[in-house]
Amino acid sequence: MRTPTLHERVQAAKRVVVLTGAGVSAESGIPTFRGADGLWRRHRAEELATPEAFARDPRLVWEWYEWRRQLIAARRPNAAHEAIAALEVRAQDFLLVTQNVDGLHRRAGSRRIVELHGNLWRVRCPAEGTVTENLEVPLPSLPPRCACGALLRPDVVWFGEALPTDAIRRAYDAVESCDVMLVVGTSALVQPAASLPMIGKAHGAYLVEVNLEPTPLSGFADESHQGKAGELLPQLLGTLGTAPIPNPQPLIPGNPWST
Ligand code: OAD
Repeated sequence: MRTPTLHERVQAAKRVVVLTGAGVSAESGIPTFRGADGLWRRHRAEELATPEAFARDPRLVWEWYEWRRQLIAARRPNAAHEAIAALEVRAQDFLLVTQNVDGLHRRAGSRRIVELHGNLWRVRCPAEGTVTENLEVPLPSLPPRCACGALLRPDVVWFGEALPTDAIRRAYDAVESCDVMLVVGTSALVQPAASLPMIGKAHGAYLVEVNLEPTPLSGFADESHQGKAGELLPQLLGTLGTAPIPNPQPLIPGNPWST
């Protein structure tokens, strides 16, 4: 019997899960963390992305996030984000689980998303426990403050912090019951996200990796494709990666930096 193509497998799947990492945004001009020009090659995570760093120097931490917000606001989703948004429309049941905080999946039109590491277009007041969207670029003053007077923080997960319970629960539930799982542009080194593909496979999912280079996951995947996600995903998904997206937001509304 002929082996089904990936297109056929995805088409027949009752549930598809896509897990993405920084590599999916690389072709939009957003640096990854661990690649040749990766952010963690130039910056120390413990000085910028930990609760201790924020307590020590909130302005420095905010300057780093402000730099990333300005960079991302000026970039657009790429063909990989768009193919994933189209797949959501075509698939019977679908969930996108992302480690990215850049909001580009949402801007490409993806709606069924779990953001494991938060989103840098939201701010959180630690004193009140409130979370609000904030698309202002540049921020008028750093570090920003809540109306209550407390320092606001980016609504992202820092090293040493737990992931949002609801987000990780939804991700586990989806990977445990999916037929096909696509893992795109992640080094598969940071837990607990890195364990999701193995959990999916242990529960019977057909595991497909798309990455520029081999990762610890490559040997376990049923298919491992090496190359750029923006080129490979549209090829691999074919018509499943093309659909009118109901509500894409190429611009960050009201954000003059977003062209
Ligand atoms: P990494 O920077 O660790 O890995 C990015 C992966 O994308 C690498 O394996 C690259 O080979 C691959 N890649 C680069 N360009 C690509 C392209 N055009 N197409 C396909 N693949 C490409 O990023 P993540 O795995 O997302 O966490 O890192 C996970 C977490 O570590 C991040 O969410 C962040 C970071 O520290 C926190 O900040 C909590």
